[in-house]
Amino acid sequence: KKHKVKEQLNLLDQATAFYQQQLASSSERQKAIDYLQKRGLSDKTIQHFQIGFSPSGWDNLLKHFKNLPNPQLQLQSAGLVVHNEEKNRFYDRFRDRIMFPIRDVRGRVIAFGGRVLGDEKPKYLNSSETDTFHKSRELYGLYEARQATRNLSKIMIVEGYMDVVGLAQHGITWAVATLGTATTEQHLNRLFKVVSELIFCFDGDKAGRTAAQRALDISLPTIQDGQTVKFLFLPEGEDPDSLIRKEGQEAFEQRISQSLTLSEFFFKSQTENTHLESLDERAKFANSALPKIQSMKAGLLKQMMLERITELTGLSQAQLSSVVNLHQASHS
Ligand code: UTP
Ligand code: MN
Ligand code: MN
Ligand code: MN
Ligand code: MN
Repeated sequence: KKHKVKEQLNLLDQATAFYQQQLASSSERQKAIDYLQKRGLSDKTIQHFQIGFSPSGWDNLLKHFKNLPNPQLQLQSAGLVVHNEEKNRFYDRFRDRIMFPIRDVRGRVIAFGGRVLGDEKPKYLNSSETDTFHKSRELYGLYEARQATRNLSKIMIVEGYMDVVGLAQHGITWAVATLGTATTEQHLNRLFKVVSELIFCFDGDKAGRTAAQRALDISLPTIQDGQTVKFLFLPEGEDPDSLIRKEGQEAFEQRISQSLTLSEFFFKSQTENTHLESLDERAKFANSALPKIQSMKAGLLKQMMLERITELTGLSQAQLSSVVNLHQASHS
């Protein structure tokens, strides 16, 4: 098993070099170069993230590795080659895509994300899951962020590869992205081992706002005093990459400094469209907000958020928790 992992990592490393070399010298390179230029990426950024290109065709990678003892099965177990059962044929998973290597904490490539150059679907494709690659655990850009800054103090969590890369291109080198999956408790715990402050910045669209709500729900029971979670909301239709290209680093940093704290976002979303003058709506608010705050770990922030509910409802903490606990109990 250990030997197999080593073999996979070695193949992934060589594949990274292959895709970089294709970007540098394949006959199809110009359209990839044009695309990266259109996205505003410099050679330095391309190097920093080891971005490459997989040419079109079904077997470029297979051919490149033809001297391996068993290229088809070895590349398949590295997540780079797919087997078509019906035709009993093996073919390259990534074709005609910009290649983003995904590196682990030690900088070893464990998988790739590949983007089409046009509007084809799917827009992004990831390596298949392997022994070394579990999509829901990994964070794109974490290795690169730690390379760029020795002692990181905060990390921004964004949705996409191009958000991480585009932000870095404009001087914000401390962003990471989940790989098309929702933020998990595992992600948070990993990041809080590195920094004490996280800023969520999702796309300015419905999906992004839903992702922020989810990140809030995950954060509440996870964070402890001393850990900070903030939320940065972008204008409709923008994502971090598109916005920093438009506005530049300074304006974006200005927005970062105005992010909402966890408690600000929590009370804002809990009281949105709520008339707190009305008893009925105050009760509804307390019934929704209190259990969520009660799920938090003991600490000052929890106490203060409970205090805030008493201010907003006019009830004492004892009154609130006796009633809401009963209510919860009768529904579970
Ligand atoms: P977005 O649709 O917001 O794409 O998906 P993007 O990152 O802004 O991409 P560009 O700017 O058009 O290049 C956010 C993330 O969701 C995952 C990818 O990780 C992507 O970066 N995703 C999206 C997929 O895995 N597959 C897809 O087909 C689309
Ligand atoms: Mn999106
Ligand atoms: Mn984008
Ligand atoms: Mn986006
Ligand atoms: Mn963009």
